[in-house]
Amino acid sequence: MDISIIGTGYVGLTTGACLAERGHRVLCVDADRAKVASLRKGRVPFYEPGLAELVAKNVRAKRLSFDGDNAKAVAHGKAIFISVPTPPRPDGTADLSAIEAVARDIARHIRDYRLIVEKSTVPVATGSRMKEVITKYRPANVDFDVASNPEFLREGCAIADSMSPDRIVIGVESTRAEMILREIYKPFKAPVLVTNIKSAELIKHASNAFLAMKISFANAVAAVCELAGANVIEVTRGVGMDKRIGPGFLNAGIGYGGSCFPKDVAAFEAISRELGYDFGLLREVQRVNEQTRDLFLKKVERELWIVKGKTIAAFGLSFKPNTDDIRESVAVKVVQSLAERGAHVRAYDPQAMERARASMNHVAYAKSPYEAAKDADAVLILTEWDEFRDLDFRKLKKVMAHPTIIDGRNLLDPERMREMGFTYRSVGRP
Ligand code: UDX
Repeated sequence: MDISIIGTGYVGLTTGACLAERGHRVLCVDADRAKVASLRKGRVPFYEPGLAELVAKNVRAKRLSFDGDNAKAVAHGKAIFISVPTPPRPDGTADLSAIEAVARDIARHIRDYRLIVEKSTVPVATGSRMKEVITKYRPANVDFDVASNPEFLREGCAIADSMSPDRIVIGVESTRAEMILREIYKPFKAPVLVTNIKSAELIKHASNAFLAMKISFANAVAAVCELAGANVIEVTRGVGMDKRIGPGFLNAGIGYGGSCFPKDVAAFEAISRELGYDFGLLREVQRVNEQTRDLFLKKVERELWIVKGKTIAAFGLSFKPNTDDIRESVAVKVVQSLAERGAHVRAYDPQAMERARASMNHVAYAKSPYEAAKDADAVLILTEWDEFRDLDFRKLKKVMAHPTIIDGRNLLDPERMREMGFTYRSVGRP
């Protein structure tokens, strides 16, 4: 099928590449001309394992192309997916101006039937608003449908998530829209759930909020474990073995970050409030997340007493492993906070240093973990990159001024670290 994608961020580009890989002819459009030019040369503007190869392969096969013009997207695709940013405003509500602008643009260029699909995470009832806008600005009598098809991919494993998702949610108001979306997803072997548009929009916000809640819950349990002398790994394993709960997303750490959870939890709380429901539970999820970061910083202070003037090595800056994304990264927030208190922070991350440099210039960057740890009073593990699991710890210990590791991700084995002579602290473990 001829499909257009408007917006080539994480979601748009991955969706486009995966739909092309499954045999559709996909045109990806982005307003950023420089980005389009570099995508045409096969350059992906962020690090996502396998994506550059998948893009290049499908460009070569002429199933995937790029353009800067929304008019081309409307002309090309029978279905047009919108995946433009919906950033948070200061009050937590989502800024939908990019969605509205694209909807008006589609209306201006539409000449015959098109299915317009929201792929970005949007508050409930955005579909109805889009329908109103397109109806208002389209030429008279041109037919169209709006649908919601939320994306659940995770950064770092975006292709696998997109190719074989747990479920494909299709929110529609007509059989025609349902048929088109079913046809598009036929080559994907995943259960399809058909709902109305508002339910599909809510499924996305409710899913992300629930996952964030699981993480905050695990972090709260970790705090209690620490006070009680229990081990949060054992506790969450025991809890997660209950099929009704499930083992995923119960890893305690320094709190959740990234471009989705913080924004989506705030947006879901805000839209609920606007609709007349006080979703206080979601405010608590956010509060626990911030408290988790503060508790970690207190742990650092407990070990170092005075942070000012100390040399601290930060291992990891990305908001999670296998990405160079530092948006809302708790690792970055921890580093910033320590630097503000006068610590000399030397950071190392396998992928995210270039991005971090652009926003944090009061921090030193090292070429290796050992260089970061040279003469350091403590090493902090802030992102659970595999590389940090397999370090030469003897070498690490030798280069440090004092062998202290504060592991914010429970990446290492406490017993082994202590046997090797490290002062080792982690989260919710004795
Ligand atoms: C998330 C959702 O998982 C995905 O379905 C949605 O489409 C977009 O938002 P993503 O932001 O890429 O994906 O990352 P994810 O793997 O969910 O991790 C989010 C944050 O939670 C990270 O900061 C991670 O470190 C943290 N996390 C995750 C924990 O602290 N503990 C866990 O057990 C799991």
